[in-house]
Amino acid sequence: MLEGLMAEIERIVILTGAGISAESGIDTFRSAGGLWEQHRVEDVATPEGFARNPNLVLNFYDMRRAALAHAAPNAAHMALARLEREFSGELLLVTQNVDDLHERGGSASVLHMHGELKSALCTSCETRSRWEATMIDRPPCPVCRAPTLRPDVVWFGEMPYQMGRIYQALETCDLFVSIGTSGAVYPAAGFVQEARRLGARTLELNLEPSEGSRLFHETRLGPASRLVPEWVEEVLDAQGP
Ligand code: NAD
Ligand code: APR
Repeated sequence: MLEGLMAEIERIVILTGAGISAESGIDTFRSAGGLWEQHRVEDVATPEGFARNPNLVLNFYDMRRAALAHAAPNAAHMALARLEREFSGELLLVTQNVDDLHERGGSASVLHMHGELKSALCTSCETRSRWEATMIDRPPCPVCRAPTLRPDVVWFGEMPYQMGRIYQALETCDLFVSIGTSGAVYPAAGFVQEARRLGARTLELNLEPSEGSRLFHETRLGPASRLVPEWVEEVLDAQGP
């Protein structure tokens, strides 16, 4: 349905979710065996859960951060990095993922709307610092020295990062592409409607139909490691040399 249109595309917004990293060995949230089957969301992904049992929460994210060392970017991450390098128009890559696989796949500019595992947020001075170590031992904030670091991950009930910039890009894009997300969590789940309302074409690449599949002009089903490189090839081919 979108074939033939790719040549006219000048501004693309891409939204990725846990599905793009699934083939790299990082658990998704809602799939069978996913993170939310093994943990109660209220315990590990809310400010209230953190207040109740900080050790549980710090340990949960310490484990997830450590697991990144055993995961490598897959063909989907690398294809998006290639698109960033070779697409002649504007591209905004927004991810709900807190892993660093887009960066390690070669993408230079990634907007992490739900924060990052390798970042610490100080609840005293509110500084965000790059962070690779554990937090369970209550290390001091590199800026104010208070032992009040928390994972720089946006929890349920908190405001995602850079929403203004994202909505601005959705307003002006001519193509919105959603990759590997269940469309269960707002505000990200609403991006497709926002983009459509303002005239963009919309494409979903996912393993199975998501909650919002019917909102897209086109849905392609399959593993991201196959679908994303195929789509990137299509865009770059249409663009010509
Ligand atoms: P909510 O009202 O607590 O959260 C929604 C708000 O949380 C949004 O406005 C968003 O700004 C914010 N948010 C910030 N960071 C987030 C993050 N990292 N992940 C998710 N949301 C974040 O949640 P809700 O309205 O109860 O649920 C939203 C959707 O999430 C629902 O569609 C629900 O199906 C799904 N959900 C699923 C599970 C689960 O799988 N067990 C648990 C909770 C929510
Ligand atoms: N290729 C493409 N898609 C895949 C693959 C794959 N190899 N494997 C799984 N998927 C799809 C699943 O079918 C599912 O629709 O990826 C989607 C993953 O959905 P979720 O686990 O719900 O992850 P996500 O949409 O990123 O969750 C959104 O919820 O809990 C919060 O903050 C958390 O950022 C997260 C947000």
